[in-house]
Amino acid sequence: MRGRVASSIASVITLAALLGACSTEAGRHGGMMRGRMMGGRMMGHMDKVSIKRHRLYMHAGLPAEYAGKKNPYKPSPELIKRGEEIYVQQCKACHGEDGRGDGPAAKGLDPKPSDLSFIMKRRIATDEYLFWTIAEGGKPIGSAMPAYKGILSEKDIWAVILYLRERFGR
Ligand code: HEC
Repeated sequence: MRGRVASSIASVITLAALLGACSTEAGRHGGMMRGRMMGGRMMGHMDKVSIKRHRLYMHAGLPAEYAGKKNPYKPSPELIKRGEEIYVQQCKACHGEDGRGDGPAAKGLDPKPSDLSFIMKRRIATDEYLFWTIAEGGKPIGSAMPAYKGILSEKDIWAVILYLRERFGR
């Protein structure tokens, strides 16, 4: 039991590190852990991200077919445009016009769609993590996110990832 408590504390700390490392906001507010003590700032961040997915990624790692996967395509205007088309057709209804997770189809979903404008600036947004998330969707954690493998080609998944980086990653 103690081990489990310790490991869940460790996981919150790792999560904070993954989310906070590149966050200027976290720096400004003195870090996520302090943020929590200062009145729910951490909870504010936690609300924007997929906690269950992050836990699974950190504890179980990725299935072999996704581990270490890297985008073979360089960003180009054509691919980013293709990625934008896919975002508008497939993702916007839930993740919203500005990626904040507030699209019309997001209503009532639990867990709710992540704020992509937030998560894309965090260290966790690696190629392997994003590709796995989009390909397998919510299946591994029981969320409403559709699995896009079989719907989108690998190239289209990489195109939407390039678009997310371009639009939200900086
Ligand atoms: C039916 C609603 C829905 C649609 C459509 C949808 N998503 Fe999601 N998405 C979710 C939900 C709910 C979550 C949070 C739970 C989870 O991680 O599965 C999520 C989480 C994510 C995450 C993980 C972010 C994090 O917090 O780490 C990424 C990345 C993502 N979605 C990208 C996409 C992309 C790209 C598309 C379109 C190709 C898309 N989603 C379409 C509902 C949706």
